Amino acid sequence: MENKINYVDICCGLNWGDEAKGKIVSYLAKSENYDFVCRWAGGNNAGHTIYKDGVKYKTHLIPSGIFYDIPSIIGPDCVVNKESFFKEVKYLKDNGFNTDLILISPNAHLVTDEHIKEDREKLLNSQGTTAKGIAPCYKDKYARKGIQIKNVPEFESYLWNEKLFGNILCEGAQGFWLDINHGNYPYVTSSNTLPYGACSLGFPPQLIRKIYGASKIYDTRSGIDPFFPETLLDDKDLLRLVKEGGEFGTTTGRMRKTNWLNLDKLISAVKISGTTIIIISKVDVIEKVNLYKLYHNSNLLPFNSIIEMKNYISNALIENCNILERIIYSDETEINCLS
Ligand code: IMP
Ligand code: MG
Repeated sequence: MENKINYVDICCGLNWGDEAKGKIVSYLAKSENYDFVCRWAGGNNAGHTIYKDGVKYKTHLIPSGIFYDIPSIIGPDCVVNKESFFKEVKYLKDNGFNTDLILISPNAHLVTDEHIKEDREKLLNSQGTTAKGIAPCYKDKYARKGIQIKNVPEFESYLWNEKLFGNILCEGAQGFWLDINHGNYPYVTSSNTLPYGACSLGFPPQLIRKIYGASKIYDTRSGIDPFFPETLLDDKDLLRLVKEGGEFGTTTGRMRKTNWLNLDKLISAVKISGTTIIIISKVDVIEKVNLYKLYHNSNLLPFNSIIEMKNYISNALIENCNILERIIYSDETEINCLS
């Protein structure tokens, strides 16, 4: 047992990040029997909101296994900023969590102050990045001149022995359309946000059991992307979604550009990611606004009710996505129908 991986479950975002992955991963970590919870990509550009026993916690880098006493791994394709990491460790420790369970791959890369400076000066305004030094750090990694965590003394007691066994949960950061290979380049992040990237943790793809894909019932985008023009912020109906949905960035506080669900894009994301269970959230938000629309085959289609809209989405997904097994719609209440 101690030397064999039983199975790997993965949770990934199917949109542009901010799909409530934290809520899903938190539910899974609590209710299933995982031996490890792992992050496979990105750095503190991500923002995960987790509720435990009615208390709200926010993390940017450390996987949510930490909230459930499960060893939490930051993988080799992640990038780590020293200051932000130790700040998060302190925050978790102060809140009573066992931070000895946090482990970092020796091969993860260090985000330096120079990386952050370069991001702020060159990319923040042109691409609307989170200014956390992500692109400059990956640039150095791929130029093979980056600094690996194993060479930074402060991280010594956090180094992972690179072993995995038992049941593994991998939590995604960002989302499908921010992936460096699939998104609207250069308006993407610099990592592999799809489940294929999770294999960088050191397991073969055959061991993947379930892929939970997180989506919202409408689209949001934080950061610059010509696919989400600023004029979206002038649309009264869409602004109601922003307000009802609380669509402001966890990491940056910026108002997210919001649009009706693009079903064409969602279908592609489900197919390419290999999603077996899709969780479509914020159904309560669209119900409050009481307007039901989505884009399909590039046309904006209106519906009379949430039931009509859900049926339409489900039928299109079933018709197009042959490895999808389950479709779950969720709202503010706990997701309690996943297992
Ligand atoms: P970077 O990852 O900071 O380089 O930012 C690149 C793009 O990805 C920007 O448009 C960001 O707004 C977006 N982005 C990065 N991380 C997240 C996230 O966790 N949620 C939503 N958008 C993100
Ligand atoms: Mg997030």
